[in-house]
Amino acid sequence: MKLTEAEKKEAVEAAGEILSGFDADRGGLIPVLQQIQGKLGYVPPEAMQKVAAHFGIPAVDVYSVLTFYNQFRLTPPGKNQVKICMGTACHMRGANVIQESWERCLNIKVGETTDDREFGLERVACVGCCTMAPVVMINEEMHPKMTPTRVDGLLFSHNLNHKGQTEGGGENGRP
Ligand code: FES
Repeated sequence: MKLTEAEKKEAVEAAGEILSGFDADRGGLIPVLQQIQGKLGYVPPEAMQKVAAHFGIPAVDVYSVLTFYNQFRLTPPGKNQVKICMGTACHMRGANVIQESWERCLNIKVGETTDDREFGLERVACVGCCTMAPVVMINEEMHPKMTPTRVDGLLFSHNLNHKGQTEGGGENGRP
């Protein structure tokens, strides 16, 4: 995914500001990355380079840390975040298959965002309604008892609503 020049600039500035509060002790690496993600919502390559230079380590080492911990995102979040619950109950009821369906339909992997930035995909811990497993959240909206075949329908209704809103549709965005 391509970042805009403004996003790259923002990443460099945010990283610089956060790094100014840390010395070069490598113990600060994860807290710095957490703060960058907290500020930007992800850790872009430009920030990664700056962090690597600050701690005097190769950028690939920073990348390894980011990909090792699944709390970190490498791409900007989507306007709509699809969160697949991976808690025990959902896992037992096929969350992996649900994840594959979303990945196939959106043509992205978990942790990525579609090129139009409409959807981001992530895995989350138990969202607290295990009796409804498997569960998927789209933003704050819960979709219980998810099946792979419902993915297409959810995307279709989202696109319909979105189209209605952008074209000045009626209530709830429907034309
Ligand atoms: S494990 Fe998914 S809601 Fe609890």
